[in-house]
Amino acid sequence: MPRILLGVSGGIAAYKALEFVRLATGAGHALRVVQTQASLRFIGEVSFAALTGAPVLSDEHEHDPARGAFPDQQPPEHEPVSHLELVRNADLFLIAPASANTIAKLAHGMADNLLGNCALAATCPLVVAPAMNNHMYEHPATQANLATLRERGVHVIEPDSGRLASKGEHGVGRLAEPARLLRECEELLGGTSSGAGEPVAEEWSGVRVLITTGGTREPIDSVRFVGNSSSGRMGLALAQAARARGAQVTVIAANVALSRPPGVQWRDAATAAQMQQACEEEFPSCDVLLMAAAVADFRPAAPSNGKIKKSTQERLRLELEPTADILCELAAKRQDGQTLVGFAAEHGAGAIDYGRGKLKQKCLDAVVVNDISRSDIGFDAEANEVTILTAGGEHHVPRASKAAVAESILDAVAHLRGS
Ligand code: CTP
Repeated sequence: MPRILLGVSGGIAAYKALEFVRLATGAGHALRVVQTQASLRFIGEVSFAALTGAPVLSDEHEHDPARGAFPDQQPPEHEPVSHLELVRNADLFLIAPASANTIAKLAHGMADNLLGNCALAATCPLVVAPAMNNHMYEHPATQANLATLRERGVHVIEPDSGRLASKGEHGVGRLAEPARLLRECEELLGGTSSGAGEPVAEEWSGVRVLITTGGTREPIDSVRFVGNSSSGRMGLALAQAARARGAQVTVIAANVALSRPPGVQWRDAATAAQMQQACEEEFPSCDVLLMAAAVADFRPAAPSNGKIKKSTQERLRLELEPTADILCELAAKRQDGQTLVGFAAEHGAGAIDYGRGKLKQKCLDAVVVNDISRSDIGFDAEANEVTILTAGGEHHVPRASKAAVAESILDAVAHLRGS
């Protein structure tokens, strides 16, 4: 079920946001609403709460009884920072109506209210639907602010033209009709079917795919760790692509701050040891393992329980011990019919040879090699360029979005499985 976080700012058009909530919940979306203080003068929290079936937040210090969960989720057992948990759970954040003031604040990264905090913390698509008087909308300041937002990748739903709120006024600035708001949000969510986490194809129906992603963090003390800059994007692109093909997908995520693709099972594992534990539990029941996580090869041998004080020593020596090679250990326990894919982050010349070495040593069906000496691809980048190595040969996938690279990797897996 796609989760839409709706931000409502002050303006007469706030009443149309109620209609949007009615349409969106009716179409099967889970909604939560955050309001600015100004919007409360137009529409009260009670109306949104009744339509969404969830509490409405309007203050960043307010207690959220749902603890950041959407109506389709169980609230977590711990007490998270609710608005951060809200944006983390959202698949899309729509601000409608977005007043001139809210747009200006968003363009300048201001976080003096709950809505601004949510917008800065959101890693899901941010959509802004302006609504205001035509002179305010056409003012160069508003237009420059909207241009800034667009440049940053914010999707702007253009306002309609027609009769405006003040008597006798006509022009551009009317909030887009709720049905258009919903249509544009659904397009951004990837169409109602895949956006809903529902498979759009049957090709991989019944295939259980286990994907690890992100980067492990190995504690030095209670606040510091040895880690890496893997964002988890490649693994999430694989999860989305496998889900769209009809697979049953489980993701084991190491410190991934991106929003969770709908329709996949999700487990968090912060350290290599936790990743190993989760993999051991999930691996026996999977058909395909895509081990995209950057797992630490070493961890501090004796992490401190407290916080290491600078004053206690002049020089700090950190002793590291090896972690288990999870993929190798899983490969040793593989059952017939399981397909195992490793990912090799290699630096510059010799990358393919190192990858081939890993294919053999780790007894894998395929290794996806990427060259981490390049800053435009791979770790923490939007794009990737890889070479897929199998016993039968190699296939170079030129620089493309991680979504497109994910499709090539799944094609290779399908080929290996003879499907
Ligand atoms: N991997 C793993 N457990 C580890 C380290 C790596 O399961 N402790 C997995 C990774 O998820 C990846 C593959 O092994 O799929 C290759 O990881 P990589 O770090 O490139 O290779 P290493 O075998 O660790 O070798 P090196 O770092 O020396 O290149």
